[in-house]
Amino acid sequence: MSKVRPQPYKMELEPGEYAWCACGESENQPFCDGSHDRKRTGKQPIVVRIEQAGRVAWCGCRCSGRVPFCDGTHRSLPGYVQPKRGQGPFSAAEKGP
Ligand code: FES
Repeated sequence: MSKVRPQPYKMELEPGEYAWCACGESENQPFCDGSHDRKRTGKQPIVVRIEQAGRVAWCGCRCSGRVPFCDGTHRSLPGYVQPKRGQGPFSAAEKGP
C-alpha cells in the first residue's frame, strides 16, 4: 500500500546523503527502504547530499515540481487539510533517520 500523502515530511537533518523514496512504497517515509525493488515498482530513489544541518521539507505527495523537495503542490491536491499548529506532519514527532 502506497504511503504517499498530501503533506511534506519536515525534518531536522544533519549533513549527509539521503535516499528519498520515489515510489511511495517505503515503510520508512520519506526515505527508501528497498521496497521499490521488492515490489517491482520500476522506480528508483533520488539520492541527494544535504550540505548543511537544518530543516528539510521532503515531498510527500510525489507531485512536487522539484522532487525530492516540497514546492507546495500538495496544497492543491484532494485530501489536503491544513494542519493545526503543533499537530500532524509538522509535529516534532518526525525526526531524521
Ligand atoms: S522504497 Fe521507494 S524508491 Fe526505494
